[in-house]
Formats: sequence, C-alpha cells, structure tokens
Amino acid sequence: MVKMELSGVNLWYGDFHALKDIDMKIYKNKVTAFIGPSGCGKSTLIRCLNRMNDLIDHVRIEGSISMDGKNIYDKDVDVVTLRKNVGMVFQKPNPFPINIHDNVAYGPRLHGVKDKKRLDEIVEENLRGAALWGEVHDILDRNAMSLSGGQQQRLCIARTLAVNPEVILFDEPCSALDPLSTGKIEDLITQLKKDYTIVIVTHNMQQAARISDYTGYFYLGRLIEFNKTKKIFTNPDNKETENYITGKFG
Ligand SMILES: Nc1ncnc2c1ncn2[C@@H]1O[C@H](COP(=O)(O)OP(=O)(O)O)[C@@H](O)[C@H]1O
Ligand SMILES: [Mg+2]
Repeated sequence: MVKMELSGVNLWYGDFHALKDIDMKIYKNKVTAFIGPSGCGKSTLIRCLNRMNDLIDHVRIEGSISMDGKNIYDKDVDVVTLRKNVGMVFQKPNPFPINIHDNVAYGPRLHGVKDKKRLDEIVEENLRGAALWGEVHDILDRNAMSLSGGQQQRLCIARTLAVNPEVILFDEPCSALDPLSTGKIEDLITQLKKDYTIVIVTHNMQQAARISDYTGYFYLGRLIEFNKTKKIFTNPDNKETENYITGKFG
C-alpha cells in the first residue's frame, strides 16, 4: 500500500535547482532508503516529506507530495500536525538538555497530555519502543546529555514515537555512532516498520542493503533508479546505479 506519493517534485534554493522531477512512492510499513553521493539531494528530499524545508529561506518547491491521498503542500494543511505525523530523527543525536523522562514527555505535554500517571506510561511505552527502557528505567531523572551517543539517538527515537507518528524520517541516523550502536538502531528500525512507515537516508550502502525494502539512487538532484532493494543491489537497470553500488563511482 502506498503511504506517500511524490509527483513531479522540483526544488530550488534561490537559483540553484537541487531536486529535479522526482516521482516516487513510499510504501506503508516498509523501509525506503535514499542513497547517492554527497550533495545529490537526499537530505533536501527527505526534508520535503514533512515540510522542514519551509523553514529555510529562498526555497521554492513545485509538484506534489501526498500522504494517504492528500497533498501535504495544500494551503489548508497544518504543518505542526504534519510534523507530528511525519517525525524526524537527525544525523547528530539532539536530545533536549533536560532529564530523560521529560525528553519523551515533552511532545505529549505539548499536545495536551497533563496527567502525570499517563505521562509516565507514555514515557515507559516509548522508551520500550525505542529499545532503551532496560538501560534507563532507573535513571529517568538524569540529564539526557549524560547518555552515550547511541543511547541519545534511541532517546530521540523514543521522543519521536511519543507523539504517535505514522511516518518516521531518518537522515543518516548512525553516521555519528559506533558499530555496536549502529547495529542496535538498525535492529530497531526493522522492528519499527511493523507499526510505522520508514524513510532513511544513508551513505552506507551495506546499511541500505541490510534494512531497506526499497531503495532510491540519487545523483545531482535526480532520482536515477528506484526499485526493490534486492533488485537495486543485485541487478540494477541503470549503469550509473551499478557503478555506484559496486564502488566504481562515488
Ligand atoms: N540551505 C541550503 N541552501 C542552499 N543550498 C543548499 C542548502 N542545503 C543544501 N543545499 C545544496 O543542495 C544540494 C543537495 O544537498 P543535500 O540535500 O544536503 O545533499 P545530500 O544530503 O545528498 O548530501 C547540494 O548541492 C547542497 O550544497
Ligand atoms: Mg545529507
């Protein structure tokens, strides 16, 4: 089932044409990976999926991106609600410099949950969902900045889960992490796709091959090839894709 559909997406930063005629489908309860050399537009595109680019000056976007059939760029779309439904986890873990509990409770509080017992339940549920509960359940009042990088990233995932998104965007979520922490995040993403639709930008092709169901290869702002991950990594239709995934280029 299609969760999001991109149609004729073009984006300019001022005069610079950063995304060119992107058509793509994001399938529900699947992991879709964006790969391609640095500067090809992966982050720009993933930011289009929850309108994070709206925050950047001089950006112009054409085309449509629909979620469940509704264009998220329509005038009547509430961007705050959209960003709740389409959560995002960044390259560098960015927990708030407050305690672990309150990092996860922050979003639900903002969206009106006041009952302390209910907030405690939400915190536990989402720390479990992010595979972090076991490591932090007795230090919930400790500052989040005291956690390791990998724990901080899982905390950021818990914080995203706590507002009940439908889609979660990950922009190179493991690039600041060691291999062990990376493995934990990869396992977690595989778990999460049961309940969420996942899009991940990664410069690590092994990672894309391990955890994604669909892969898009981008070059200079164009989507060169989009297909099932297995197909992209074993028998791509496009020569440029093949050169990139075999390491002859990039
Ligand atoms: N805020 C911005 N203003 C102007 N140009 C930008 C901005 N962000 C990215 N770009 C340019 O857009 C292109 C795509 O960047 P980006 O989406 O970050 O690529 P990737 O994530 O694939 O490395 C690059 O040429 C980059 O320099
Ligand atoms: Mg990027």
